[in-house]
Amino acid sequence: MKALLGNLKSPANRRSFIKKGLAAAGTATAGAGLLSSGISLFGQNQRESGSLSQGDADILRFAAAAEIIESDFWLQYNELGGIQDSEVPGGSGSPLYTGALSRLDADMAQYIHDNTDDEFTHAKFLNAYLTSKGADPVNLEPFRTLPGSTATGSSGKLRITNLMQLTVDTTWWTRYRSSDANPDLNPNANFPPAVPGLLAGQFAAIPRTDADLAPKAHLQAIANTAGFHFATIEQGGTTLYPAMAQRASDVEVLRILISIGPTETAHFQTWQDKAGNAPSLTDPTNGLVFPNLNAFGGELFQTNLIMPEPCPFISPDLPKCSVIRPTNTEGIAMAVVTFLTNMGLFIGQSKAFFQLLNELAANADAAQRQI
Ligand SMILES: [Fe+2]
Ligand SMILES: [Fe+2]
Repeated sequence: MKALLGNLKSPANRRSFIKKGLAAAGTATAGAGLLSSGISLFGQNQRESGSLSQGDADILRFAAAAEIIESDFWLQYNELGGIQDSEVPGGSGSPLYTGALSRLDADMAQYIHDNTDDEFTHAKFLNAYLTSKGADPVNLEPFRTLPGSTATGSSGKLRITNLMQLTVDTTWWTRYRSSDANPDLNPNANFPPAVPGLLAGQFAAIPRTDADLAPKAHLQAIANTAGFHFATIEQGGTTLYPAMAQRASDVEVLRILISIGPTETAHFQTWQDKAGNAPSLTDPTNGLVFPNLNAFGGELFQTNLIMPEPCPFISPDLPKCSVIRPTNTEGIAMAVVTFLTNMGLFIGQSKAFFQLLNELAANADAAQRQI
């Protein structure tokens, strides 16, 4: 997550950069057909988008895209490791994978189901709200092109995201336990990852085929990877919403952002607790190590320290405060795209997919609060 806010150029220049870049490639309207009315997002910075300001519509569109992405991969988790019902239909469950996940908590299947349900409601609500205001919603269905898991229990349908080659950055673990550093104030602070091995390769978080159901320690490593991925994703959402909310203009748009954001935090808070229960092991097939975090000693890795440790906030001269971090608003949408891309979530996606996602992020980052 340090990278989530790192190496970003001025968002004010990014829209024109991408506009020029795509125009040069002859693909200036690559993403336009993915907005329901077919209107390009380019060149609308000062224009209204329905009854929303262009900036508010751009912020909500990026949130909608993020929620569609979340819905897509959470459904993959639910099909194999969650509860199968009419509320979240699709798969038929993998008893062995579900059993491995339950080593993290007996209620994992329920939590996976409910997190999945939440993401679908976020995506549907945001797109419906945009439409109700005369603004374009987001449609990523043309990018449902990736073959997913063929393990028993998967629906086998095509996916937008890839859960089978993940590189998971678990530095949030120590970022939320550090009382010394906040990446907003200390951009060069070093937050060691809880599971360094997850940053050193590509790992499946769901069984890719039934061959992944054995040996037992391999399947448990896949379930552990999922457990850490859940928290990694949801802490990203925990940052995204308050970071974008700072540039919302309309009070109702602000209300939407500060009402959805805390549910991402509720997810994160649950998942970091469960990740701490992941059994320590070494995957015999690839050497991936899940360490015994409590054996390290000290508070930085202790698994039951799940409340955000107070840290510097706004100014080092002010008292430390227990807060979400980072929440710096500048470049946040592009940082999230980088974060998700580096995670491997989009491995196999098309150039047009990245162009659209970058366009949506650049526009959201260019939004200015109007008062
Ligand atoms: Fe969400
Ligand atoms: Fe979420």
